[in-house]
Amino acid sequence: MFVRFSTVGGEKGSADTERDPRGFAVRFYTEEGNWDIAGNNTPVFFIKDAKKFPDFVHTQKRDPKTNLKSATMVWDFFSLNPESLHQVMILFSDRGTPDGYRKMNGYGSHAFSMVNDKDERIWVKFHFKTLQGNHTLTEEEAEKIKGSDPDYSQRDLVDAIEKGDYPKWALKIQVMTDEQAKSFKWNPFDVTKVWPHKEFPLIDVGIMELNKIPENYFADVEQAAFEPTNLIDGIGLSPDRLLQGRIFAYPDAHRYRLGANYHQIPVNRPINEVNNHQRDGMMNVDGNAGDKPNYYPNSFDNIVADKKYKEPAWELDSNIADIYDRNENDDDFYTQPGELFRKVMTDNERRNTISNIVNSMKGITGDKRDEIIQRQLEHFYKADQDLAMAVVKGLKFNFTNK
Ligand code: HEM
Repeated sequence: MFVRFSTVGGEKGSADTERDPRGFAVRFYTEEGNWDIAGNNTPVFFIKDAKKFPDFVHTQKRDPKTNLKSATMVWDFFSLNPESLHQVMILFSDRGTPDGYRKMNGYGSHAFSMVNDKDERIWVKFHFKTLQGNHTLTEEEAEKIKGSDPDYSQRDLVDAIEKGDYPKWALKIQVMTDEQAKSFKWNPFDVTKVWPHKEFPLIDVGIMELNKIPENYFADVEQAAFEPTNLIDGIGLSPDRLLQGRIFAYPDAHRYRLGANYHQIPVNRPINEVNNHQRDGMMNVDGNAGDKPNYYPNSFDNIVADKKYKEPAWELDSNIADIYDRNENDDDFYTQPGELFRKVMTDNERRNTISNIVNSMKGITGDKRDEIIQRQLEHFYKADQDLAMAVVKGLKFNFTNK
């Protein structure tokens, strides 16, 4: 296995304890090829449709004019995309500032599929539960560490592994049958929603232990090319519309960032032999299949597609993949964030979440300030009235009559 943890919004060298989702990218080198779960430390995501991703990501990066991070564009986008609310609640809780990489959970986030040897499919979600205890930092602690040790999470991980205190996670799955998917209250392929654990309990799979730091950071970490399309027999994708977009985005990024033959870089190379009819391209370093034929079908080699890798077809006559217009609950952006705030968070977590939101929203500036704040407050209000009122109070916000 190989794992890469990361932050999202900052450039290389930016502080590890910034409020941000953390990347939790896991690769299994199996006898049947590489299987990647390029996940996050959050079970949901900000948007549920891939076509919104470039716009979303721009809001997390720098303002094109000032070259500064901008609370105005962040909250403008969130308030105009209420499907983000669930992830916003997580990001602005102390889970948005995890205490290093070892003490956070990882999630595949999307629904994936598993197909058994009888060609029966179930839908699954992957969870990596930290066995170090789930620890977060308060905003104050995170701010302080930013100045004193910007490489905090990387240092914590390297130090632990080098002294033999190997971090571990329990891999668990949630399982949903096709029948359950059809009657689930929300769309099971909507990545802004979780599958409640009560209905879909976590099932133990195994333990992941990280027991070695790569010898060379650039070779093995910088050059790693994770992609949700790295799948193995028995594990597949789902109609999740965000995941469907990711199928194209990652290999495109790798061809641009590392070149057409990025699969040949050692960290990306499967451990088993690869047989196909693709050839050439920049930086081809594996012998380019020598004198073997480069077309199929041919009369010279014995490479044939193995039918066992063909998955059963999806039922596309249903509207299961329609995350915006399937049933009345597709626009329910509020129930799960409200429950997270009321039922999952402790008093202390609620207090910190409110204060973290207020501190960030104070940064909204310009002539659209009040409009943006008011729009976001309405979303908070629909999730939980106390939350909205506490944010109003914290911001000392005066409503206009708009
Ligand atoms: C349509 C939605 C998304 C698009 C288009 C997208 C696109 C990308 C791209 C282009 C990269 C850089 C790849 C590279 O150069 O190696 C990346 C990195 C990454 N993305 Fe996404 N992403 C999306 C959603 C998500 C979601 C929902 C998750 C988690 C559940 C996620 C997790 C990651 C991680 C962990 C990395 C870093 C991988 C590494 O460690 O090298 N992304 N994403």
